[in-house]
Amino acid sequence: MRVTVSRRAHFNAAHRLYRKDWSFEKNNEIFGKCNNPNYHGHNYELIASVTGSIDPETGYVIDVKILKDIIKMEVEDAFDHKNLNLDVPEFENLNPTAENIVVVIYNKIKAKLDKNLDLDVTLYETPRNFVRYSGN
Ligand code: NI
Repeated sequence: MRVTVSRRAHFNAAHRLYRKDWSFEKNNEIFGKCNNPNYHGHNYELIASVTGSIDPETGYVIDVKILKDIIKMEVEDAFDHKNLNLDVPEFENLNPTAENIVVVIYNKIKAKLDKNLDLDVTLYETPRNFVRYSGN
């Protein structure tokens, strides 16, 4: 019997989508307004879902307080009110698209979970645009 425990979280961050090895024109052609050199912000929402067996002793798959603390440390403290391109080492050489952000978040949270727990992360860049990664 495997049950999924989810926690919703939030962070604000700025980014710019571009490749350092492309010209400004080429970046504009591919990334449009997202290539604005002065950056732009998003209110990111995320849902981290942990799936595993219920511990017969505690009745928990994961203590949601532990999940909350992992998300706070690995995502909120690391990304909130930051410029992803400039302030977050993972994006120094990685374009901070929603796709790349969700993979970075997944890897950071997954590293803190027990090995027998599965993780699925959904990241909303806007209320209508969201991406999902579960390690495959
Ligand atoms: Ni953007």
